[in-house]
Amino acid sequence: MRSEHNHRAAFKFSFKAIFAFLFTVSFLFAHAQDDKAKWEEGKSMFKSNCASCHNPKADGTGPALAGVTARWEAAGEFKGKTGTQWLHTWIHNWHDAVSAGDKYAVDMANSRPSEMNVFVSLKDEDIDKILFYIENADKFVKTAPVVAATETATTEEKGPSATLYLFVGFLLMLVIILIIVTNKLDKIVAEKKGEAVSAKTPFYKTLNFKVALLLVAIVYSGYKTVDVFSHFGRQQGYAPTQPIRFSHALHAGTHKIDCQYCHQTANKGKNSNIPSLNTCMNCHKQVSKGPKYGTEEIAKIYAAVGWDAYNKTYDEGKAKPVEWVRIHNLPDHVAFNHATHVNVGKVKCQTCHGPVETMETVYQYSPLSMGWCINCHRNTEVQFASNNYYSVYTKIHEDLKNKKIDKVTVATVGGTECQRCHY
Ligand code: HEC
Ligand code: HEC
Ligand code: HEC
Ligand code: HEC
Ligand code: HEC
Ligand code: HEC
Repeated sequence: MRSEHNHRAAFKFSFKAIFAFLFTVSFLFAHAQDDKAKWEEGKSMFKSNCASCHNPKADGTGPALAGVTARWEAAGEFKGKTGTQWLHTWIHNWHDAVSAGDKYAVDMANSRPSEMNVFVSLKDEDIDKILFYIENADKFVKTAPVVAATETATTEEKGPSATLYLFVGFLLMLVIILIIVTNKLDKIVAEKKGEAVSAKTPFYKTLNFKVALLLVAIVYSGYKTVDVFSHFGRQQGYAPTQPIRFSHALHAGTHKIDCQYCHQTANKGKNSNIPSLNTCMNCHKQVSKGPKYGTEEIAKIYAAVGWDAYNKTYDEGKAKPVEWVRIHNLPDHVAFNHATHVNVGKVKCQTCHGPVETMETVYQYSPLSMGWCINCHRNTEVQFASNNYYSVYTKIHEDLKNKKIDKVTVATVGGTECQRCHY
């Protein structure tokens, strides 16, 4: 009896220790992944917005940026805002910091002949992510040589999630085995004592309750880890290098070309098209030189369509297609229709794709996860009363009239039913 008791106490002790250990490990792991996600997002926003002029460590058109947060913070408070807040203002729109008279900003603006762009559409948290990347540029870089190819980046990023499922699965299995064993031991001891354990112990002190609590904690942190990783799988922030350096910032931003001039089918059908090179040639028969790459990039359009810029003739024989790298890609089992969202729902391109008109290189702005779709469907009201498209929903019309419901969201009209989105 005595030896058995010791045995059990020892076991319980190691049991607790293991739990504490596992919990800490998975907690730390989940946090490291939060940082990694932040870094990845910061990096891709840096790449598409800042990298044309800046490098964290080397001077370019703009100064090297490593340590920039400390430099602004050291410049001190001005008009009740800290250095870091002025740094945010600068990145948003440097004119604001200069016209407010912040000395550091004024000196900075006068330091170089060229000017920085403005980034009014970057949110504060985006700037935080970019700064986090700038200050930790080497942190998550793989030790493996070069992973430059854009396609490999996809598989590389999807890799860890399988390992992670295994890891979490392993943790759960361990927990379950431990529970079974301790329960058995409990039972044996109780039987030998000839009493029912549970009758005496309050429920919150029972082992089962504690185990359940820990289990929830472990599953939760495991889930968080997996969740962070599966975002990589969905490639939020994915910004591949394209075969021709086509800039949305130049075309849709500076030259204000309408999105649908090029993406004509975005309001007509399921998919939004990528324009054919003939669309490009509407203008580029005349425009053969760009502000940044000169004739180099536009020459690629000519080569692809077989255009002889000197004789102004096409030679179909010389044409070879350009293969744009696809950025957004939902799994096959999901149905998404652009026309319903753009035309019927009146959702703006930018709500889902972000400030494309400021992007040098397009990146995936939204997570494209199921939660993302459903959240918006829950929160977005549809123009119900005035829309004939909805006259089929007579019941909802009645409820609305009788004030049983006060608003109609996409969810009300079935936007969260599985079969709407899944084949
Ligand atoms: C078109 C080129 C260009 C782009 C794009 C650009 N910058 Fe700049 N940046 C500059 C120049 C040039 C300066 C120096 C100030 C001046 O002369 O106006 C500067 C200065 C800065 C400074 C101050 C540096 C210091 O040492 O205090 C920060 C911070 C900064 N840029 C951040 C960014 C971030 C973040 C982005 C992307 C969101 C970005 N810049 C995009 C050109 C650019
Ligand atoms: C002059 C033509 C043109 C205009 C105008 C234009 N785009 Fe594009 N867009 C392209 C081309 C070419 C690509 C493919 C190359 C690339 O990704 O940069 C593209 C790619 C995209 C992609 C990524 C597609 C993918 O692979 O998943 C999105 C999203 C997008 N455009 C949205 C917009 C939005 C929003 C606007 C308006 C603010 C706009 N575009 C204006 C030509 C254009
Ligand atoms: C509605 C007119 C229009 C269309 C359509 C158009 N472009 Fe342009 N593109 C321009 C203008 C204007 C410029 C800038 C010329 C300048 O500023 O000197 C330009 C510049 C460029 C540059 C040079 C960028 C640089 O900085 O050197 C490239 C590359 C380019 N376009 C690619 C494309 C491609 C690819 C398409 C088709 C998907 C396309 N363009 C469609 C008007 C157009
Ligand atoms: C409600 C969100 C939403 C809105 C609004 C939206 N898109 Fe998209 N877009 C998506 C999703 C999701 C995908 C990925 C579709 C897929 O993989 O089947 C996508 C893909 C694309 C693509 C890649 C080609 C394709 O169809 O897969 C282009 C180009 C594009 N969108 C342009 C636009 C333009 C231009 C507008 C505005 C006229 C627009 N989008 C409005 C969500 C949206
Ligand atoms: C920014 C908000 C927003 C996001 C994000 C969004 N939707 Fe929607 N969705 C709407 C609105 C608004 C409507 C209603 C259109 C209407 O008035 O019928 C709608 C309607 C739908 C419908 C029903 C109409 C139809 O086409 O049969 C489907 C299916 C749908 N969405 C799928 C998706 C999927 C899949 C995603 C994610 C990939 C998504 N939506 C993301 C706003 C959104
Ligand atoms: C508004 C659109 C929408 C609705 C409604 C919806 N889903 Fe999804 N679902 C998606 C999208 C988008 C994905 C792809 C997400 C991704 O790739 O991470 C997805 C993925 C999934 C997956 C695969 C999970 C994975 O990680 O690939 C399953 C299983 C699933 N949905 C089940 C359901 C069930 C069950 C329902 C009904 C309760 C439902 N869905 C309703 C949009 C929707």
